[in-house]
Amino acid sequence: MKVAVLKETRPDEFRVALVPMGVKALIKKGLEVSIQSGAGESASVSDADFKEAGATITSGVAETLAGAAIVLAVNAPSLDDLKGMAEGTILMSFLSPLTSPDLVRALVAGKLTGISMEMVPRITRAQSMDALSSQATVAGYKAVLMAANQLPKFLPMFTTAAGTIRPGRALVLGAGVAGLQAIATARRLGAIVEAFDVRPAVKEQVASLGATFLESAEEVVAEGEGGYAKELSADQHQKELDLIAGSISNADIVITTAQIPGRDAPLLITEDMVRSMRPGSVIVDLASESGGNCALTKSGETIVAHGVQILGPLNIAGSIPVHASQMYSKNIVTLLSEFVDDEGALNLDFENDVVGPSTVTHAGEVSNERVRASLENAG
Ligand code: NAI
Repeated sequence: MKVAVLKETRPDEFRVALVPMGVKALIKKGLEVSIQSGAGESASVSDADFKEAGATITSGVAETLAGAAIVLAVNAPSLDDLKGMAEGTILMSFLSPLTSPDLVRALVAGKLTGISMEMVPRITRAQSMDALSSQATVAGYKAVLMAANQLPKFLPMFTTAAGTIRPGRALVLGAGVAGLQAIATARRLGAIVEAFDVRPAVKEQVASLGATFLESAEEVVAEGEGGYAKELSADQHQKELDLIAGSISNADIVITTAQIPGRDAPLLITEDMVRSMRPGSVIVDLASESGGNCALTKSGETIVAHGVQILGPLNIAGSIPVHASQMYSKNIVTLLSEFVDDEGALNLDFENDVVGPSTVTHAGEVSNERVRASLENAG
């Protein structure tokens, strides 16, 4: 059975879905792997590296897809490329199925089995298949480096003959996977870190990384299903804004990561708060793709407002392509092992607690409840 890997086409995408280590793992399982020529180039993997791992190098999309039972990608291929996939082909990639109705309709029309990396359940057993987490780790780390790079100051404390430099202060809003990694990275760079999240369960993790959890006189809590956050009531939201306003004017860098699945990102930083910050301070808004946590964020841009630099980076994980691809490749190989047996034969079992929820389309139908509902809403 043949597995195909396409070259990514987004201009800001440097990752590849499978690295040579992943090719070897699939070949060991009895699969054949074909890689579109140049697919790994921007992630520092040459065609020769893939060949050495046992893959066949193909040129162009049509040749790569020919005879493939499974197609692997980071981002969903274009609607045109989907047309080149035979009925019954399994496509595994990020699909944003809740917000991409045209893509879901195209998967249904082509009778393709769409396996969405976003829909892998966040259960302990599936941690090694969880690409949202692996890529959020990359984003949290890089966000701090971007902030440090823009900051006209040091982050660590320095005691030198030319005087003592006081350590910088970081504020991290949202302490999920990306936020915790941002805290750890800012701490490694020597910053004093404060953090906040509406899920009190993370308080201990924040403390164990050496950061201080912002405490309010009254609790601000919005713990939803499956360990995720839910939207705060208006009253609680105001309390949270007051809490953040009390801390943000001391921060040199602010990393925001707060998201609520299926909704716009919550507003955590108002224009007044930006005005209260010291000139030269930096905000990196990792929620910019879903509306942003800062009122002034411009998605995909860096702006300066009231002397504060506000970065709204897109696809930040793609900016560390070597390790982001290595982690994604591990996620995808582990997930694929759920429905390909050790003889390389397909065994798509929708009763499987990972395969079932991750599959969004199959045999000309939308197979996931939430995706079906979002499609109906989209009209
Ligand atoms: P996410 O990207 O959806 O959200 C990031 C963070 O923003 C979350 O911690 C959330 O609580 C926080 N947030 C939302 N609204 C906020 C507000 N108004 N103010 C401050 N913070 C706010 O979440 P992510 O990072 O993808 O995962 C969140 C949680 O999901 C994890 O911490 C964990 O509990 C669970 N999870 C479980 C896994 C497993 O067991 N396999 C794997 C990964 C995540």
